Order: sequence, then C-alpha cells, then structure tokens
Amino acid sequence: MEKTFIMIKPDGVQRGLVGEIIGRFERKGFTLVALKQLAVSRELAEKHYDVHRDKPFFGGLVEFIISSPVVAMVWQGEGAIASARKLIGATNPLSAEPGTIRGDYGITIGRNIIHGSDAPETAQSEIALWFGEGEVSEWEPTLKEWLY
Ligand code: PPS
Repeated sequence: MEKTFIMIKPDGVQRGLVGEIIGRFERKGFTLVALKQLAVSRELAEKHYDVHRDKPFFGGLVEFIISSPVVAMVWQGEGAIASARKLIGATNPLSAEPGTIRGDYGITIGRNIIHGSDAPETAQSEIALWFGEGEVSEWEPTLKEWLY
C-alpha cells in the first residue's frame, strides 16, 4: 500500500492545527503508520530541502523549519501521495482552493502549514530520512473493504 511523508510545519503546530490536520487525513480514509513531534536539526532540514538549495528562499525556509517543533507523519493508502497533495492544496495558500488545508488556513507561501511528498521516489526517500527502522508500523485496517 502506498505511503507518503507529511510534515506539519512550525506554523501549523503553533497555531494548534495538528488535530485538525490529522482528522482530515483520518476522515479521508488513510491510515496513520508513523507519527512524531520533533525539533528539527539544521542538517535534517537542509537534507530534506536539498533539491531547493540554490533557490533564494532556501535559507529562510531552513530557518523556519528549525525554529520550533514540527510533526512528522507517514500516511498509508491507495493513491496516498497524490491524494494528500490534493488535501493539502497549492503551494501558495493564496492559490489554494477553499476546502484544502492551505486554502482554509494559510495566507503566505513562507508559512504554508504543511509539507507532503510530491512523488513515489521522494516519498520513499523522505520517509527514510525522517524515520528510522521500526518507527513505521506495518499494519492495515481490517475494515479496509469499506474504503477500497
Ligand atoms: S520550486 O521553485 O517551484 O521548485 O519551489 P516549490 O515547489 O514551489 O517550493 C518548494 C518548497 O519551498 C517552499 N517555498 C518557500 N518557503 C518559504 N518561502 C518561500 N518564498 C517559498 N517558496 C517556496 C514550498 O512551500 C515548498 O516546500 P514544501 O515543504 O514542499 O511545501
């Protein structure tokens, strides 16, 4: 079953949106297979956003991610990567549709609440970067016939 990496950024945590965001993924029907709150090291933040190292926003983005704790998660389900991106909405909250997380709660691109993997390869590498062996539980709900 497909897995995706989701991170609630410092603004989402500080604004008390963790429960709301987890609820949206649960109600969609995805299965939570890993969850932790952590203070992110500069090294981890830089590795996570390494592909954007040459972008003008890289330094500010890293400072933001390490500024206070984030909530890192892995959600599992059919089409979880693309579906999570739909639940999250466009990168710039001003372009994100109402009903999406960024569309409902965000205003500016530098404080867009949440990150979600954009493709199977990035999901795999991000899960391996953020979670160690044994931190991701291998389970599927027994009521899955109601979902799929
Ligand atoms: S790009 O240039 O199209 O490749 O970048 P994009 O995919 O839009 O964004 C990559 C990640 O950088 C974040 N981002 C920013 N953060 C802070 N400030 C500014 N100006 C900014 N622009 C983009 C964006 O939210 C993406 O991070 P994630 O965590 O995936 O949302």
